Amino acid sequence: MVYRQGGSIVVVVLCWFYAKCVSSYGLGPCPKIGYMDLFNITAFTGHWYEIERSFYLMELISSCVRVDLELNERGQLEVDVYSRSRMSGIFSISEGIATSTKKDPSILLYKVSSRLPRIVNRYLPGAGYYQIVRTDYRRYAILYSCSNFHIFHIDLLWIWARKKEIEADLRVKIYEILAINNLDPERLTLPKNKNCTDDY
Ligand SMILES: *[C@@H]1O[C@H](CO)[C@@H](O)[C@H](O)[C@H]1NC(C)=O
Ligand SMILES: *[C@@H]1O[C@H](CO)[C@@H](O)[C@H](O)[C@H]1NC(C)=O
Repeated sequence: MVYRQGGSIVVVVLCWFYAKCVSSYGLGPCPKIGYMDLFNITAFTGHWYEIERSFYLMELISSCVRVDLELNERGQLEVDVYSRSRMSGIFSISEGIATSTKKDPSILLYKVSSRLPRIVNRYLPGAGYYQIVRTDYRRYAILYSCSNFHIFHIDLLWIWARKKEIEADLRVKIYEILAINNLDPERLTLPKNKNCTDDY
């Protein structure tokens, strides 16, 4: 995985530990994904739970990820990511601000202002552009982020839902949307959401 930090690029080699990581690399530039119609940032606020993702998170923080989005007075989303750690209970793993871009409201520029040590931050999705590929606001959201490098790109795919678990028919629908956009659901991995409590 590659994260930009202060203009330089830090390559973290994780693929030895995580075979699926390899499929996050693609040859050529980032694929163009069509924008969703009339993205409504207000309707997108509230609690979301992580259902699936294509990127690596440390085992420590790999379960029960919740994202809270709140609209501030400047029309930006204030983003808080929480996780329940096996070792230390519940904590906020990152915070930041997401701003709709001129290109399209569904493309958000995310800036992180995190409290966590850098070693942990490296395993989290970092600052950059995130596209809301599709959401129905009530049940699910599909997020995509991609960075171009010289002859290849690295991307990530993230599925959120309003509930901790989703029904099989909704999963089928989400996978259909991914297929239409040439995004491979095979890359997704299921975080461990069992035993997530409501008290965070
Ligand atoms: C956006 O969503 C909010 C909250 O659901 C709603 O009140 C508002 O009418 C929506 N705006 C548009 C333009 O659809
Ligand atoms: C969930 O909690 C139960 C009872 O506390 C425990 O037996 C089980 O192993 C837990 N499952 C996971 C996936 O942590």
